[in-house]
Amino acid sequence: MAAAVGRICGARLLKNYGAVTPQMLSTLGVVGGGVGALLFALEQSVQASGNEAHPPHQPWSHGGMFQSLDHASVRRGYEVYKQVCKACHSLQYIAFRNLVGVTHTEDEAKAEAAEIMVRDGPNEEGNYFERPGKLSDYFPSPYPNENAARAANNGAYPPDLSLIVSGRKGGEDYIFALLTGYVDAPAGVVLREGQNYNPYFPGGAISMAQVLFNEAAEYTDGTPATASQLAKDVATFLRWCSEPELDDRRLMTIKVIGMFSLLTAFIYYLKRHKWSTMKSRKLAYKPVAKK
Ligand code: HEC
Repeated sequence: MAAAVGRICGARLLKNYGAVTPQMLSTLGVVGGGVGALLFALEQSVQASGNEAHPPHQPWSHGGMFQSLDHASVRRGYEVYKQVCKACHSLQYIAFRNLVGVTHTEDEAKAEAAEIMVRDGPNEEGNYFERPGKLSDYFPSPYPNENAARAANNGAYPPDLSLIVSGRKGGEDYIFALLTGYVDAPAGVVLREGQNYNPYFPGGAISMAQVLFNEAAEYTDGTPATASQLAKDVATFLRWCSEPELDDRRLMTIKVIGMFSLLTAFIYYLKRHKWSTMKSRKLAYKPVAKK
């Protein structure tokens, strides 16, 4: 097998490095490629056999390789989370200090934090006490534990939203489609009590009711709060929650491409320069005259 593959790939032209023969290397390459193709095919087939609708792709303002998040939208999305989603979903990996410089000024973020009460302690007498939130506090969870969350939601658990955009296929497209995609259940689909029909949710039966309607939340910047605007802003906000470093990464991309193009040009010149003697030499045979 190894020899046959080697022959096909022309491995005899490669150099022989001790115990690892070129044939072994090319077999490894072919087998590796085959396994990769198989994995890709399996992954695609899983997508095709799902019974949920695929979320349509939306023209996100941060969609391109060089585009940053729309921070006005992230701020509005925070307002939607605070007014609507916070009642059921935690956002446990985001602290109030993370908002500073992203959606809020330091004073605004302090004011946001001060709206919650946090259990702290023990104090000098050994007692636990409640105090207003500080910048270093994380967003509070709506329920004390998972059982309480399930009990309040017909047995379903509202997942933490910090990493949901990275954790779901389709990312913010999926969140947007899910929030705006509630429809009546088609004939033949039986929903249990407390369930709603949403074609974008795997299986279709979701325990979260439609929460976004026109005017379901209020924006401080006066943007008309239509259902689709609310969904778009909260999806952008959740993308920021999942990838707070997104803007920095995009900036770095621009710098890296700039630096490496310069370097590539320089290295290309250097290579030509260093090899010029080798490339322009001439080999001549001088036949030895027969004696
Ligand atoms: C009344 C409580 C409630 C509110 C308010 C609520 N949700 Fe949910 N949410 C749930 C429950 C319960 C589930 C779990 C559904 C299930 O597993 O069937 C859920 C699930 C989700 C999921 C996960 C879907 C998946 O693929 O697993 C996302 C995303 C989500 N909610 C986003 C939001 C957003 C964004 C908001 C605010 C605009 C919001 N929710 C408001 C209760 C709520």
